[in-house]
Amino acid sequence: MINKNSKIFVAGHKGLVGSAIIRKLISQGYKNILFEKRKHLDLTNQSQVLNYIKKKKPEFIFIAAAKVGGILSNYKYKADYIYDNLMIQTNIINSAYKIGIKKLIFLGSSCVYPKNCKQPIKESYLLDGKLEETNDAYAIAKIAGIKMCQSYNDQFGTKYLCLMPTNTFGPNDNYDVLNSHFVPSLIKKIYEIKIKSKKSIKIWGDGSPRREIIYVDDIADACIYFMKKNVRENLINIGTGRDKTIKQYTDLFIKTLCPNLKINIKFDKKKPNGVLRKVLDVSLAKKYGWKSKCDIKSSIIHTYENYSNLLK
Ligand SMILES: NC(=O)c1ccc[n+]([C@@H]2O[C@H](COP(=O)([O-])OP(=O)(O)OC[C@H]3O[C@@H](n4cnc5c(N)ncnc54)[C@H](OP(=O)(O)O)[C@@H]3O)[C@@H](O)[C@H]2O)c1
Repeated sequence: MINKNSKIFVAGHKGLVGSAIIRKLISQGYKNILFEKRKHLDLTNQSQVLNYIKKKKPEFIFIAAAKVGGILSNYKYKADYIYDNLMIQTNIINSAYKIGIKKLIFLGSSCVYPKNCKQPIKESYLLDGKLEETNDAYAIAKIAGIKMCQSYNDQFGTKYLCLMPTNTFGPNDNYDVLNSHFVPSLIKKIYEIKIKSKKSIKIWGDGSPRREIIYVDDIADACIYFMKKNVRENLINIGTGRDKTIKQYTDLFIKTLCPNLKINIKFDKKKPNGVLRKVLDVSLAKKYGWKSKCDIKSSIIHTYENYSNLLK
């Protein structure tokens, strides 16, 4: 069982989720946290990963390292997405097994589920239909990670657990134009409105698709919670279980971040909408006593402040 002195390796410590896990571990009093600069430890390199894990001997691992990006990047660089993700997760999971680590958390993503699956999405829908073509290479890599954890659990009796977060946002997100997800690109557009005194904002699609979003501190909380928890299943969805339209999110972000400005929302209907609805069924996480706690408005404000501080 993990305790405040356990040796814990966080892979991907500089990323959105990894950095939140580190903040949460420190705030909860965990004292023995391992992380390594990418220039000293390339997680796609099998021998480097095995040597590092053999030398440092962590007792628990959070795998928050991955190649992650938005639709365009996923579509354009499929080879990078499948190679990097397969290598990172395979190297870490197998090295963990080799030194006898019984419990790790592997982070997947809601895009592992079939494109047209029923909503809200239950864990049991995995491999029940065709994937979204734009990010199928990424999704297949993540599914391989889930199956790898499951297979090691079945064959070797490990307790490797896969958490599937919904769209996540927060400090240290990726704001690259081609690479970013819906929330960081909205934050960036609102920042530009404020700085350049613009009067309108342009959103991809017609604003009608429904999405679920979650603040990264909730994801970090779930990761630590489930690292401590004994669960029978191998795969657990992590989300709020609530969705809104893209238009409603845009209104909410504008109202929260610039309540005194009158902003006209324009929709770029030539851009794709994507699937009409994507929301996770989070009843399994709830059954184990976990639910999201972060307040949406303060999460938006905190994320915005973090972004604007990056630009100072
Ligand atoms: N963001 C979301 O909305 C979301 C939603 C659902 C699930 N997830 C999952 O959560 C996990 C973390 O996502 P994230 O959003 O935190 O991604 P992120 O911000 O891009 O962070 C990923 C981290 O992995 C590191 N990394 C990548 N390749 C590496 C390599 N070869 N060697 C060493 N480090 C490497 C990156 O290092 P650099 O900083 O050097 O690039 C980065 O720190 C992923 O598995 C993702 O699928 C994310």
